[in-house]
Amino acid sequence: MALYALGDLHLSFQADKSMDKFGRVWRHHERKIEKYVRQIVKPEDTLVLTGDHSWGRKLSECREDLAFIERLPGRKILLRGNHDMFWDAKKTERLNEEFKDRLFFLQNNFAAYQDYALVGTKGYTFEGPFYLDGRGRILGWDEKSEAHAKKLVAREMTRLRDSFEQAREAGYRKFVMFLHYPPTSILEETSPFTEIAKEYHVTAVVYSHCHGESRFGDSIRGECRGIRYMLVSGDYLGFRPAEVLP
Ligand SMILES: [Fe+2]
Ligand SMILES: [Fe+2]
Repeated sequence: MALYALGDLHLSFQADKSMDKFGRVWRHHERKIEKYVRQIVKPEDTLVLTGDHSWGRKLSECREDLAFIERLPGRKILLRGNHDMFWDAKKTERLNEEFKDRLFFLQNNFAAYQDYALVGTKGYTFEGPFYLDGRGRILGWDEKSEAHAKKLVAREMTRLRDSFEQAREAGYRKFVMFLHYPPTSILEETSPFTEIAKEYHVTAVVYSHCHGESRFGDSIRGECRGIRYMLVSGDYLGFRPAEVLP
């Protein structure tokens, strides 16, 4: 039994949205997902998909993408990404009722894996606009956007803390924390997300959203202050799920 993660499937079985223009790795990426998930994930395993599942703008436009995910092996847990328009934050419970025993939507709740609680939320990071000099160094940024980003971070933190507390009340003391957005912006070394990870002594922080060689290093990767940070964007992993826990 193992816990795996993979993010940003960006499926479009019903939407006319090819990912090919983003590089070779995206060519027929749905075939790679199917191939590698089937190779790596066993029926008794758990697979957390860290958001940006579908290009569909509403649930009726995501049916085939979600059916594709359902057919993959293992227990599937989904996190909300910035492109998941079908998943309004208020609809999580309704989605969990509709997809009961098939898919689990992780937000304002938690899932158990062995003696770990899996908690997660979309998260948020400030992504500019930044003002650069001729060498690409950051000279400044749009402060209005930054102030707005802080509000979104605060809202996501409320959701996350609520999930940690639900898990703690249920008796869990070991945690893995999932985010769609990276835990820190390119300006930060720590953030409310890294702080809460420290506070609850999480084993690992797993996130995705960063696409392309130039963005893979936007946030923390590897061991940092006793916590393992894992980037699991599909294109970063070549669409091979990464093992989070054995
Ligand atoms: Fe994405
Ligand atoms: Fe994203």
